[in-house]
Amino acid sequence: MGLGAQMMEADPPEHTRLRRLASVAFTPRRTTELAPRIEQIAHDLIDALPPAGETDLVEAFNAPLPGTVIAELLGIPEEHHLDFRRWSARALQVASPEHRPALAGLHGLLADLVADKRRRPQDDLLSALVAVRDEEDGRLAEEELVGTAMMLVVAGHESTVNLLGNAVLALLQHPDQLRLLRDRPELVPGAVEEFLRYDTSVERSTSRYAAEDIELGGVPIPRGSMVVVALGAAGRDAPQAEDGDPAVLDVTRPGARHLAFGHGIHYCLGAPLARLETTIALRTLLARVPELELAAPADSLQWIGSGIIRGVLSLPVRYRVG
Ligand code: HEM
Repeated sequence: MGLGAQMMEADPPEHTRLRRLASVAFTPRRTTELAPRIEQIAHDLIDALPPAGETDLVEAFNAPLPGTVIAELLGIPEEHHLDFRRWSARALQVASPEHRPALAGLHGLLADLVADKRRRPQDDLLSALVAVRDEEDGRLAEEELVGTAMMLVVAGHESTVNLLGNAVLALLQHPDQLRLLRDRPELVPGAVEEFLRYDTSVERSTSRYAAEDIELGGVPIPRGSMVVVALGAAGRDAPQAEDGDPAVLDVTRPGARHLAFGHGIHYCLGAPLARLETTIALRTLLARVPELELAAPADSLQWIGSGIIRGVLSLPVRYRVG
């Protein structure tokens, strides 16, 4: 029996229902259709930079790119984008005093929008969710809709911002790998898998509980105890012989293996979108910004202290747009 089958899910059945409903509206087709718009957003952000200088790449590029994508996907009007990005950035920082106000702000914004989309449906994900009919209960209750939208935002925003940040930071610390990707942009999709393995942004899973007594790696886990999977560490596990040294960043590594999107029934719903966004963001950044280097010592960078999300709070770089 696999580990998944021996673990009970921590979340109530309600969550499974919301997931099912979200996946109806959040289809792979919707994701693929987003590619040209994501490219446009990436180019616009680079166009907005002064031609050369120093900037915080998190603020200027890594955060606004996925933030704008998810905001547009949900159908959040542009005048709310700044608030939306600020709140979703804080929503996972559980230690921050802004955590609760940010969740409340996000909830209020999404609740207003859901009501609005009910009155005037548009061609966006929130309107699609409003239109989804649950075969048991008919239309979704307002609170379920807002909960589903919150789940997408909280799960999907900071994870992507910080995968991108960790990837750029890794490249800046490995100039040979950076050069390789600049010379061979066709390697970028495979490199994204390597970044998910080498330094992913979601460090650990949500809680699971052992459904029976088990032993893992010589550690007895009694039935009912809470188990959290160190997803980031799994990418650095003792390798199969063919995988090579897990401590080495190798953007040409074939089929980098990782648990970055989880496993089993909670497998990341947004994995195709996260891959697409990160691939387009890196390709555009490398193509448009021929000079890019860290503007501060790597060991002076401040890391997010949420325990869930791994990434730097800011990424000071010196750059020149080509
Ligand atoms: C690099 C970016 C991302 C990473 C590393 C990531 C990682 C993960 C992981 C590890 C889980 C499973 C957690 C667990 O089993 O305890 C998960 C679940 C989830 N992800 Fe992502 N994610 C990313 C981007 C996204 C995006 C862009 C979206 C949607 C817009 C999204 C939506 C979700 C949702 C809704 C779930 C919950 C699924 C469930 O509980 O059934 N994620 N993600």
